Amino acid sequence: MQVQSRVIILDFGSQYTQLIARRIREAGVYSEIHPCTVDLQVLKDLRPSALVLSGGPASVGLMESPEIDPRVFDLGLPVLGICYGMQLIAHVFGGSIEPVFSREYGRAGLEFIRDCPLWNGLTRKDGLTVWMSHGDSVTRPPDDFQVLGRTSSVEIAAIGNDQKKVFGLQFHPEVAHTEEGYRILHNFLFKVAGLTPDWSMSSFIQDNIQSLQEMIPEDEQVVCGLSGGIDSTVVAVLLHKAIGKRLHCILVDNGVLRHNEGREVVETLEKHFDINLRYVQAQDLFLSRLSGVKDPEEKRKVIGRTFIDVFEREASAIPGVRWLAQGTLYPDVIESVSFKGPSAVIKSHHNVGGLPEKMNLKLVEPLRELFKDEVRKVALELGIPDTIVWRHPFPGPGLAIRVIGTITPGRLEILRKADRIVQNELMAADWYTKVWQGFAVLLPLKTVGVMGDERTYEHVVALRIVDSVDAMTADWTRLPSEILARISNRIINEVQGVNRVVFDISSKPPSTIEWE
Ligand code: XMP
Repeated sequence: MQVQSRVIILDFGSQYTQLIARRIREAGVYSEIHPCTVDLQVLKDLRPSALVLSGGPASVGLMESPEIDPRVFDLGLPVLGICYGMQLIAHVFGGSIEPVFSREYGRAGLEFIRDCPLWNGLTRKDGLTVWMSHGDSVTRPPDDFQVLGRTSSVEIAAIGNDQKKVFGLQFHPEVAHTEEGYRILHNFLFKVAGLTPDWSMSSFIQDNIQSLQEMIPEDEQVVCGLSGGIDSTVVAVLLHKAIGKRLHCILVDNGVLRHNEGREVVETLEKHFDINLRYVQAQDLFLSRLSGVKDPEEKRKVIGRTFIDVFEREASAIPGVRWLAQGTLYPDVIESVSFKGPSAVIKSHHNVGGLPEKMNLKLVEPLRELFKDEVRKVALELGIPDTIVWRHPFPGPGLAIRVIGTITPGRLEILRKADRIVQNELMAADWYTKVWQGFAVLLPLKTVGVMGDERTYEHVVALRIVDSVDAMTADWTRLPSEILARISNRIINEVQGVNRVVFDISSKPPSTIEWE
């Protein structure tokens, strides 16, 4: 990648590490996360322009606490330490750290003690409301460091050495609760480190297309599975721009997609982009293999295996295929750091069940460096239509894990119709893009109802509509009751076989977003 400014974040296990990286990128500077144990030479080879030391749950100086190679500070790079990162700076340069009498979590009032580049241009001149989360604090700064700020419970809440360009903040400038936190980060990037904001989605697209062209030899073909979701679509459009008709996309209709979904995706991609696309209608094969399967994990396995069978058959029919394109994102490749020290846990769920090894294909993952919000920006720049850019996440096993219990064509059809009403009404009420996911679930029970003069004994549909930022936690959306009423009325009136609609009011945790 051709960016000049590159901030490397050394991760000590904070829950906010990814947020730091996103904030820095929002400021137009490329940033990457690496474990705090990264080898010094590897770090140098990354050609950092500045370093950020993240927070972390440990206490500095204990046996099992993550350390840093002190020679990192001899590289002459600007360094910002946040929370644990600040304590580590204090420790390495000879200051003292002690547990605080009462741990400090949440909002605190920061008072500026002296002027420094980090406080440059802030609207508030005397202090800020900041977000704290720590059990230890610096009790004596290193000799050549100045104390820059304090709160009512910690005397040393920010330290710095202007000459060395090394600064430490006890609070978290990356979280939204810290007033003007983004300005403090900007000040570090631009006033202290003097970086150039040269990371943008249009430069990413240009660089990416060029490197894809260099990477894939002219006589080799690439195959890419399309799901209709944003990630695989962006991968396909980028590759299409890079290598044109040497990209071959495959959309497998597994019979558990939403109403008309496969066809809509094909039409959208054909209308907007002239992409090679095979639409494989494998509904019967999937549904026959799913027949009688009740267990959710078994459903997932059957669908995963069948997908591989179908995809392999289709892909091997394309002559000269050497590459498999995947929509792996940055959060999937960051090595996570655990409390007891870094562990290299790389999630593998994006690897389509060992397909690359099985088919002897090389992997091409053009989105490996991007966060999800950046993928959306790339999609918009590439002219991908809103219907795909803002589409809710949809699980690989699709409606199969929303028809609770056994799957039959009849039950799938009931769910598909109910789900379509949920989608349409959320869109009509302008709520579709405000929620994380909204869908219907068909329950494996029947209840009594009355329609006209007749008693009925029919299915129950549950509505699951949630707010979330990353699907790790979620809460049920406080949807206006008129919208819920309209969805419920329409489902009961229009979907034959349903006489009851219920609304799921559970949060995650302890519930999950999906019911199976
Ligand atoms: P849960 O139900 O675990 O879901 O709260 C979190 C997010 O993951 C999606 N999900 C899946 N996606 N294959 C997928 O591709 C799956 O088997 C699967 N199960 C859950 C879910 O829709 C939500 O966005």
